Amino acid sequence: MDSPTAAAWTKALLLLVVTLVAQAQPDQEFSYSFPQNWGGDCTYGNVQSPINIPRATSLVDTSLPVNPITNYTRNAGKLYNNGYSPEIVPKHPGGFGTLTIDGKVYKVINVHFHQPAEHTINVFIRYALEMHIEHQSANGDIAMLAVFFTQGSTPSSFLEKFLDLLPEISESGSTPIAVNLKLDKPVGKYARYTGSLSTPPCTEGVKWIVMLDPITMTRNQLDRYRASFPTPSARFLKPINGRVIRLSP
Ligand SMILES: *[C@@H]1O[C@H](CO)[C@@H](O)[C@H](O)[C@H]1NC(C)=O
Ligand SMILES: [Zn+2]
Repeated sequence: MDSPTAAAWTKALLLLVVTLVAQAQPDQEFSYSFPQNWGGDCTYGNVQSPINIPRATSLVDTSLPVNPITNYTRNAGKLYNNGYSPEIVPKHPGGFGTLTIDGKVYKVINVHFHQPAEHTINVFIRYALEMHIEHQSANGDIAMLAVFFTQGSTPSSFLEKFLDLLPEISESGSTPIAVNLKLDKPVGKYARYTGSLSTPPCTEGVKWIVMLDPITMTRNQLDRYRASFPTPSARFLKPINGRVIRLSP
C-alpha cells in the first residue's frame, strides 16, 4: 500500500472529494470559481458575453436611436439574493416597464448586478459595478441593458433605494424584501451587439445595449455593496468571433 501509485490515487481521490464539496454550495446553481463546469452554451457557444467594447474603433451607426427607447415605470417588486448578487423582480409582469429595440417591445423581468463590471471598454477600463436590466419580449427573446457604476463624488440615488436593505439578504436563501421603485431612464451613448446571458445557461441571441458612460456612486456606496456581496461575480471576457459592435450616434 506504500507504492507511489497508491499514494497518488489517494491524493487524486481526496482532491476529487474536496472539489465536489466545494461545488456543493446550497442555493447557488453555479460558481464563479468553476466557470469551466458551466457547460452547454457556456462552454460550446461562440457568440457569448461579456466582451471588450473597442469604443475607439467601433463603427457609429447613425440609424440607431440617440438614447435607448425605454418606458420604465414605478412598481412594487421584491429584492432577493440570487446567489451572486442582489436581484429585483417586478411583482407584476411588465411592472417596471419596457425597452423597445428595432420596434420590438421587451418587458423588464429582473435587475441584477456584477461586481466588478463584466464588459470592458478599450481593453483597459473595467468599472467597479455593472447593473443588468434583463428584458423579455412576448415571444421569449431577451434584451439586456447594462449600466456601469464608478466611484465619484456624487452618490447614485438609484443604488441608495436599496443599499440599506442588502445586509438583510446577504445570505443566500434569505427572505425576499418588498420594494417599490422606478428604474432611471438610461441616457447617453451606448454600444449594441448580439451575445448571450453572461450566467448559465448562457443562452445566445441576446440583444445587448451597453451604456458607455458610467453613473457615479460614492466609495461608501460601493463599500456597502461589497460588505453584503463580497464575492466577485464577473465572467471572463469572451471572443468577438467576427461580431459587429455598433455605437449610437
Ligand atoms: C409608458 O407606460 C405607461 C404604463 O404602461 C403607459 O401608461 C404610458 O402611456 C407609456 N408611455 C409611453 C410614452 O409609451
Ligand atoms: Zn447579468
